[in-house]
This record gives sequence, structure tokens and C-alpha cells, in this order.
Amino acid sequence: MTQPLPGSIDETAGLLARADYVAERGLATAVFLALRMGRPLFLEGEAGVGKTEMAKVLAQTLGRRLVRLQCYEGLDIASAVYEWNYTRQMIEIRLAEAEGIKSREGLSQDIFSERFLIRRPLLQALEGDLGAAPVLLIDELDRTDEPFEAYLLEVLSDFQVTIPEIGTIKAQQPPIVVITSNRTREIHDAVKRRCLYHWVDYPNAERELDILKRKVPGAPERLSREVVAFVQRLRAMDLFKLPGVAETIDWSKALVSLDQVTLDPRLVEDTLGALLKYQDDIARVKGSEAARILSEVKAEVG
Ligand SMILES: Nc1ncnc2c1ncn2[C@@H]1O[C@H](COP(=O)(O)OP(=O)(O)OP(=O)(O)O)[C@@H](O)[C@H]1O
Ligand SMILES: [Mg+2]
Repeated sequence: MTQPLPGSIDETAGLLARADYVAERGLATAVFLALRMGRPLFLEGEAGVGKTEMAKVLAQTLGRRLVRLQCYEGLDIASAVYEWNYTRQMIEIRLAEAEGIKSREGLSQDIFSERFLIRRPLLQALEGDLGAAPVLLIDELDRTDEPFEAYLLEVLSDFQVTIPEIGTIKAQQPPIVVITSNRTREIHDAVKRRCLYHWVDYPNAERELDILKRKVPGAPERLSREVVAFVQRLRAMDLFKLPGVAETIDWSKALVSLDQVTLDPRLVEDTLGALLKYQDDIARVKGSEAARILSEVKAEVG
């Protein structure tokens, strides 16, 4: 069922927390304002910090449908907006031929009607559902190329698309838009200008512990504290790829699966692959470095 939009920043944080999303004040503020002002929310940040999850949680807690557009290099209008169903059009033409229908005019009007339209995510989001606009997630926008970005700019300005054979389709109610980027390249200023922007950072220790308690409730308290302290220290290192929240959750789940209640050097070494995904990083941390971090962690948590 559709829920009303939150009326304050605190209410926004509460709404997210109900779906186990732990947001810092700045993020809750950006979300609140985006919803209140009807502006797209632009979330940029490292991998695994909860950018995509935000759209899922908003759809879930506000009782909206989630429409997801996954971006990639070469994404075009046929995959993002709409496409004609050529196969069905061909069949229709053959049937018309077989029945001896001669009017070309009538036939072409018929095969370019909505019946033969395949709706892709952007069009689905504009057409919406009865009553409530969906949440539109445009995920990893930095992976598309600039022509698509320019097109998207148009869509986000007017919340409408034009299909030459049919006409202009305009959203009755603009969707709630969440755009994410990993910043593999800069997104054009014109797109950003239309959005409320927020850089999603790694959580501090307190918030990360809160996330772990919600996402891995079976983990012993002491283990969770050690995991968080360890990961927070890793993030201060100069590694090729720092672990995100997703990795912290994965590591905890792995340790729980191994029935562990506390970290030890051997265990850390054997399970580092849940946390670090590059051999160079693993090689740097393994052995004496891991042991050093672990002794600091034990001193802190102990
Ligand atoms: N603040 C948070 N509160 C609760 N869970 C979180 C939070 N941040 C991240 N997570 C969890 O971490 C995992 C990864 O999050 P998500 O997929 O949204 O990351 P992302 O920022 O989109 O990463 P990528 O850039 O790799 O796509 C999810 O399982 C999500 O539940
Ligand atoms: Mg993501």
C-alpha cells in the first residue's frame, strides 16, 4: 500500500531504519528534500556503500513499484525507453495479407499502436501505476555514454518522452528518481544540476555496527565489534579497493557460518577473500600486517 512521504528529516531516517537502512543525517536530509521537492536524488560513492539499496528501500517503505534501469556502455533508447515489437508486427502483416486486407494506411496505423510497443524502464516509470508514481532507479549512470546522458537530461526535465508514431507520453505524477554513480567518470553538470546530490561515504564505526546488528543478527556482539574495528582500520590503508559495507556484511556472515565468536590471526588470514577482492591487496594485508591490525582491534574491543 502506498505510504505518505515523510514530513521531516527525522521521519525520513526513521522510515529508512524500518527497512534496516542506517542513514547518516546528511543522507537523510538529501532524501527528505528530494522527496519533498520532487527532485531526482543523485547518489555518488564507492562500491558497496548502499547507493542501490536506497532506491530499493524507498520503494519498499513508500509502497511503490521499483523500476530499475541498469546502465551500461552502449545503452540505447531501444533498451531504456521503448522498442517496437518487430516480430509481432511481422505476424500482423502476414495475417493481414492472408486475410486479403488491402488498406496500407489502416495496417500501418494498426501496427504502430500501443499494442505493439515494448515498454522499457524509463517509459514504464513515466506511465506509472494507478495512484502512485513508482521509484525509478537509474543505476550506475557513469557506465553509459554521453549521448544517452543528454537524452536522459531531457526526460528528467519534463518527465515525458516522444514516440513519433504515437505522440508524447507525459508522466501524470513524476516518479521518485534515484540515480547512482561510482564515479568512474564525471557525470555532466547539467544532469547533476537537476538533482539533489549526495556523496555516500563509508559509515563510521558506530553506524557500521548498527548495520551489522540489523543485517547479521545472528553474529555475537563481540565478533561484530571486532569485525567493524578491523574493517575501519583497513579503510585507513592505501589499498587498491577498500571494503564496502557489503563486504563487512559478507565477512560477518562467513564468520558466523564458521561458528566463530572472535577473530584470530589464522581465521582472518583464511577469510580475507570475503573482504578484499584483489590479490595485491590480500598480499599486502596478509601475515604481519593483519596480525598488527588484529592486536590493535583486540586492544580496542577487549
Ligand atoms: N547504510 C546502510 N544500511 C544498511 N545496509 C547497508 C547500508 N549501506 C550498505 N548496506 C548493505 O550493503 C550492501 C551493498 O549495498 P549496495 O548494493 O546498495 O551498494 P552500492 O553502493 O550500490 O554498491 P555498488 O557501487 O557496488 O553498486 C547491501 O546488502 C546493503 O543492504
Ligand atoms: Mg549499486
